[in-house]
Amino acid sequence: MTMASAAVWSSQRPAPAFRSVSAASVRAVADAVREGLLRPRMRLPPWLLYDAQGSALFEDITELPEYYLTRTERGILAKHADEIIEAAGVPPHVIELGAGTASKTQLVLSALLDRQARVVYTPVDVSAAALSLAQSKLKRFRRLTVRPVVARYPEELGFLAAPFGRRLLLFLGSNIGNYDPPSARKLLRAVRRHLLPGDALLIGTDLRKAGSVLVPAYDDAQGVTARFNKNVLVRINRDVGAMFDIDRFEHVVRWNHAASRIELYLASMGAQSVWLGTVGTEIHFAPGQRIHTESSYKFTHAMIARLLVDAGFRLERTWNDERRWFGLHLARVPKRSPSPRR
Ligand code: TRP
Repeated sequence: MTMASAAVWSSQRPAPAFRSVSAASVRAVADAVREGLLRPRMRLPPWLLYDAQGSALFEDITELPEYYLTRTERGILAKHADEIIEAAGVPPHVIELGAGTASKTQLVLSALLDRQARVVYTPVDVSAAALSLAQSKLKRFRRLTVRPVVARYPEELGFLAAPFGRRLLLFLGSNIGNYDPPSARKLLRAVRRHLLPGDALLIGTDLRKAGSVLVPAYDDAQGVTARFNKNVLVRINRDVGAMFDIDRFEHVVRWNHAASRIELYLASMGAQSVWLGTVGTEIHFAPGQRIHTESSYKFTHAMIARLLVDAGFRLERTWNDERRWFGLHLARVPKRSPSPRR
């Protein structure tokens, strides 16, 4: 963590005493803005949503009545954690991508600690704030060693090359669904290349269901998801000194049945121009013109099986809730398999 240089701040804005964004990540934000907004079909990468404020808002989302995902996945873990750990082979090291505050993970860790004296847990997240919350929550597990890593993936998976014992890699929350299919394959292949034969992957996926259930999960009555979505513009304003008027953008949610995904957009309310700060240019919005901020793919069993096999894993077992709204899949790096293609 470094203190920010004042240079990225526009002079109208008072600089806060402390900035939680490193210079490197300010550069990454500027790159993402340049690449995503200077094109006719505007889009932003999902990791931008998770600054400290975004991560806190996401925690609130997980408790919304409409947002069934976290609750359902937690239910599956609560019921089957012992069985899952047994099936995974009681690995001494757990690594979690997109750990956030690791609230569901405690169920896995405590099942593991029931069978093993010591466990090492490496939560990985883009948000340092979320990781320090995770760390303090996990203090109560005395035989657990927590080694957090702040990283984006698949770009920054190098830490996986460190010598580990047998590993269980967790990728929960249907986070894989926030990648389009080619990127999802690329990410799982990158993960796979860093794992060794026998290592396990436990991956959670939201399943296809009626749009009338899916849409409200991303467009809640209290407007928390809208605030989470719009926070990406707040972040861009702060990190690159852009001048988005947050109140002139609207949270829009669509269920794209053909592509099997929920789509989140920010739609311009009227025609407007926005200065992009250190990116050094102004962009123009037509009325209703949208920025695509996030997709959340909804899987069938065949889709996830295909994705795992394509990435070089063997799918061993799936656990579902009673309504079959969510799936937890245990996959493994097979013995003597060729490393997957890039
Ligand atoms: N991966 C989860 C999902 O797809 C969490 C998530 C990512 C999310 N982006 C989101 C939730 C945007 C609400 C809004 O649901």
